[in-house]
Amino acid sequence: MNDRAINATAFTDPDDLENNVSNNRHFSDVLDAGLSRRGVLRGGLGGAMAAMFAPLALTACGGGSDAAAVVPGPTAAAPETLLGFAAVAKTLADTNSVPVGYSASVMLACGDPLFTGVPAYRNDGTDTGYDQRVGDNHDGLQYFGLSASGQRDDNSSSRALLAMNHEYIQPLMLHVSGPTPSPRPASEADIEIDCHGLTVAEVIKDAAGVFGAVVNSPFNRRVTGNTPIEMSGPARGNALFVTRYSTDGTRTRGTMNNCGNGKTPWGTLLTTEENWSGYFFRAAGDQNLRTAKVNASFARYGRNVTDTSAANSRYGWQTAGTEDKYQRWNTSQTGTSLDGSDDYRHEWFCQGFMVELDPYNATSVVKKRTALGRFAHENAAFGLPEAGKPLAVYMGCDSQNEYVYKFVSTALWNPADATSADRAAVGDKYLDDGKLYVARFNDDGSGEWLELNIASPAIVASSFGFSDQVEMYIHTRIAADAVGATKMDRPEWVDVHPTTGELYITMTNNSSRRSAPTGTQTLVDAANPRAYSDVRGGTTVNSGNVNGHIVRFKDASPEGTAFNWDVYLFGAEAGSNPALINLSGLTDDQDFSSPDGLAFTQSNGLCWIQTDDSAYRDVTNCMLLASIPGTVGDGTTATLNYSGGVAVTTRVGARPSASTLKRFYVGPSECEVTGLCETPDGRTMFINVQHPGEETPASVIADPSQYGSQWPSIVGYGAGSRPRSATVVITKNNGGPVGT
Ligand code: FEO
Ligand code: CA
Ligand code: CA
Repeated sequence: MNDRAINATAFTDPDDLENNVSNNRHFSDVLDAGLSRRGVLRGGLGGAMAAMFAPLALTACGGGSDAAAVVPGPTAAAPETLLGFAAVAKTLADTNSVPVGYSASVMLACGDPLFTGVPAYRNDGTDTGYDQRVGDNHDGLQYFGLSASGQRDDNSSSRALLAMNHEYIQPLMLHVSGPTPSPRPASEADIEIDCHGLTVAEVIKDAAGVFGAVVNSPFNRRVTGNTPIEMSGPARGNALFVTRYSTDGTRTRGTMNNCGNGKTPWGTLLTTEENWSGYFFRAAGDQNLRTAKVNASFARYGRNVTDTSAANSRYGWQTAGTEDKYQRWNTSQTGTSLDGSDDYRHEWFCQGFMVELDPYNATSVVKKRTALGRFAHENAAFGLPEAGKPLAVYMGCDSQNEYVYKFVSTALWNPADATSADRAAVGDKYLDDGKLYVARFNDDGSGEWLELNIASPAIVASSFGFSDQVEMYIHTRIAADAVGATKMDRPEWVDVHPTTGELYITMTNNSSRRSAPTGTQTLVDAANPRAYSDVRGGTTVNSGNVNGHIVRFKDASPEGTAFNWDVYLFGAEAGSNPALINLSGLTDDQDFSSPDGLAFTQSNGLCWIQTDDSAYRDVTNCMLLASIPGTVGDGTTATLNYSGGVAVTTRVGARPSASTLKRFYVGPSECEVTGLCETPDGRTMFINVQHPGEETPASVIADPSQYGSQWPSIVGYGAGSRPRSATVVITKNNGGPVGT
């Protein structure tokens, strides 16, 4: 996210917070380690891919290869080549830029009514009732097929539910003249709280074969910052969840800052709570009322700042009135109880979890799955389920120098559960009990999953003083520090290759990475090897890992503790230094910066890379690229020699060719391209465009000609000229598979 705190005077990004002051080692601590090139792990891919895609006549696949793959066209007689489209050029155009032969349409924009009786969206800052409208800042997006009779149908390509996250908001565009400073009017706070959370919306193909939204579908649903939610799993009922709202610590309200998401094998949504910490106000002096342990946890999750300013919280909702729904945003100790049952001192501890929602039931109970840990959850991806084996869920914690996690279920996978009608029970079975691990990436290309277990010597020795296993799930970052996890360059989306089962995880960027760090800056290492400076627009200088990279790893087994890794791609500007920056040799048709969203399409095995970038914004808007990846170890090692004698050896995946990586879409001005799903037939793709025009200054709100973007009205969608987040539907004009 590139978020602007409404009380801040400058453009700030909560993702850029650095809260990890642990002394965990970096690979470069052992720079003289003798590294040998690992064996190439290509074996098996061809067979697996051929088995999966045999009906699609896949002829070849693999990173670094010029070989193309083909899938059937609209008729069996006209097969089409994967990545056969002409690459879209970098552009600053305020529109949807798709390849020749493709079309893009817009639906489900911020504010669109989901129910009858809700007034049409005026898009002038006067709209209200967002708990009945699509929320703001669209992010993760998943497709849940529906049959003609309205039942779950995983094979339906004509009718479905789309479930999406609303990560945060654009306050300037939601109010007539932008947000009122604190104390916030209750009417404005209500709008902003309701614009957060989730939307579930039915979509259906029209007579022309194009998807559109179904207003008033019985499946349509909004989850907001106020929706009642159950705490589930091992931490349910914990003393740190006791609030005035839930004196037994079993419930809370709202899911906030939902970033990426994931889909369970049983057909539900796993959605994430990412940068939730800053939503809460903490009063000056509060630390004097709390235990050292609680204060240490606040500090490790970025809420150690206490002062009297309302700007202490991101949107200042605690200033909107004395009503409970506003006061719960004040996570200070204000009551006299010993257990917190008379205030919201613990509300902050109820946030930061993975959340499960069943989209097929508009009244289903939403649950926070505490066993999957509490951190800045980016998204979730399941390893390929194997009958009789545990399920693995992979997750990143998106802040600078944070970690990669794996949850392993205690229950063994029963394939019959995939189609169970009792999805709530299946979720309880697999997600409420298991082991939580964090990743250490070794500089020889191996890696280890370190269990967060109360009995482990490193946890026992931790100065934090962990008292029981449940604390692993609440103070997860601190437990991960203790066991020696590897600090990464902001782990964003992770997804699993549909046939190889290898994991791909974006490291979007890290402005604190350095080859010669000072203060809290972090030293380059094998898995995060780059630190350099880049000039944007001739003036702004960005430093660190400016353009981000994509780490790839092969897990030995769902429950295993060993893996192998390399770097699939390094983001870079095409003209940048090939020895230190453009290590993947990206060309003008391929270059990108700050990979964030990443997803594989099941229909064809393509890997889609989405950007949330500001470093390259002087040249191009954010984008979506399509790739045919290889496998871990298909490339080589590279040594980066920095001034001062510092050298780092990393592992670079095979360089992409012109036919294995191409830019597919460029979004409107000042947007992030995020969220991606497809119909099972692969012939419709849905993506989300978040915060077009996000740099629009408040001073020009009355003059649309000065907005940073006028999308989507500029492409003919909706009233008004204010930019809005929305879902984009992409199809090939000849009806063929998307990505060919
Ligand atoms: Fe919400 Fe990690 O981007
Ligand atoms: Ca991001
Ligand atoms: Ca993201």
